[in-house]
Amino acid sequence: MDRHIVLIGMMGAGKTAVGGELARRLGARFIDSDNEIESAAAMTIAEIFARDGEEFFRMRESEVLRRLLAAPPSVISTGGGAWLRGENRDLIRRNGLSVWLNVELETLWNRVRMRSTRPLLKTADPKGTLTQMLESRRPHYSTAELVFDVRGGDSIDQTASRLLTQ
Ligand code: S3P
Repeated sequence: MDRHIVLIGMMGAGKTAVGGELARRLGARFIDSDNEIESAAAMTIAEIFARDGEEFFRMRESEVLRRLLAAPPSVISTGGGAWLRGENRDLIRRNGLSVWLNVELETLWNRVRMRSTRPLLKTADPKGTLTQMLESRRPHYSTAELVFDVRGGDSIDQTASRLLTQ
C-alpha cells in the first residue's frame, strides 16, 4: 500500500467494521480515529462532548488525523464529522484515498438506534436529526475520491470484497 485508505461517511455506515476487515486482508495497520481520541483523552467521545463540547472534540479529531496521516500507510476509519472540516479533507486528499461508504438512511438508522453512545443523536427526534445530517453532509461526502455504494443486506465481508475489486 502506497497511501492511506481513509473511510468516511455517516455514523452507522460501518466504517470501523469494514476498515478492520480491509486492513486484515491488506495486511495493513487499522486505526479508528474515534478510538485514538478516546485513548488519548482517557474519556469516551460522549464524555468529551459533555465536558468540553463539540468544538474541542473537533480540534482533537484534526490533531489525531494529522498524526495518523503523517505515519506509514494504514487503513483509517474516521468519525462521521471528520470530512466536513476543510483542513481534514485537504490532509486526507494529500495523503490517502478517501472512500465514502454510502449507506441508505434506513440502514444507518437501524444500526444507530440500538446504541445511545452518539452525542449528536441525543435529541428529541434522533431519526429526524440523522435524516437532516445525511442530507446536509451528502454533498460533502460525495466529493470523496471513491464513492462506494454499500449494498443493503451485504455483510462486512461482502462489502470488503466488493471494495477491494473497485
Ligand atoms: C460523529 C460521529 C462519531 C463521533 C462523534 C461525531 C459525527 O463517529 O466521531 O460522535 O459528527 O458524525 P462515528 O461516525 O464513528 O459514529
